[in-house]
Amino acid sequence: MLLAQLTDTHVVGAANEVELYVDNNRRLAQAVDRLNAETVQPDAVLITGDLSENGTPEEMNVIVAELDRLRAPVLPLPGNHDRRDTFRSAFDMKWASENSDQTHLSWVVSLDSASEPVQVIGLDTVVPGCHGGAFDHERELWLGAVLADASDCPTVIAMHHPPFNSGIHWMDEMGLVGADAFADLVSDHPNVVRILCGHLHRPITTTVGGVTTTVGLSTTHHVGLNLDPNATPEVIRDPAGYQLHYFNGSHWVTHTRHIDTGEESFVPKWQG
Ligand SMILES: [Fe+2]
Repeated sequence: MLLAQLTDTHVVGAANEVELYVDNNRRLAQAVDRLNAETVQPDAVLITGDLSENGTPEEMNVIVAELDRLRAPVLPLPGNHDRRDTFRSAFDMKWASENSDQTHLSWVVSLDSASEPVQVIGLDTVVPGCHGGAFDHERELWLGAVLADASDCPTVIAMHHPPFNSGIHWMDEMGLVGADAFADLVSDHPNVVRILCGHLHRPITTTVGGVTTTVGLSTTHHVGLNLDPNATPEVIRDPAGYQLHYFNGSHWVTHTRHIDTGEESFVPKWQG
């Protein structure tokens, strides 16, 4: 089983043009081209949030047009820059139809593979109007029920907001409320094999509830790596790309694929 992960593509529309640290839309097109050129195509392409910069219908049209070029099916999850109404309209959310009465756009999908089925849970952690996310009681009940339903199936949880503090303080301030409850729930379900996140705009690895947890590689700007609690927020241009999570039936391996953007490297563009 091969699961690709794009994250934080922050596509912009011409009518909502913002200052671009990098050419976000071009970067997504380059990532799609590179994914389509992978010798072994992924079973699905997971996108862990912030597909758009502002969530406008125009931006969503750009995203859908790009993602339609992918050879593999897409599993999108909203982030704090997306809007649920335009997100739901943009994508055929048939895999989430059983959950359509929820306030959160979470979903569950089963991916068949040559090794064994893998369940992928998309957990929507977005709180409208906030940059931080939440794992609240409603989500806890929903996720607990889903995990209990398929307790014998290897399960990946995808979520935009990472359920841990990274040490990059200004990003942690817009982190996940309820991270401890999430870790407790995960530790009670040994079928959870990987947790895949976005939001932090740089690749990071840790464990949560005993489970390997990673933040994907954004295709756009990256967050500066500075663990000083008094550090000034900084956005930089680091190598961009995506990750490929490979499951051989017994263990998971994560590979990072950088895309050739043809740009200068490491040019600081913004400091808060
Ligand atoms: Fe983002």
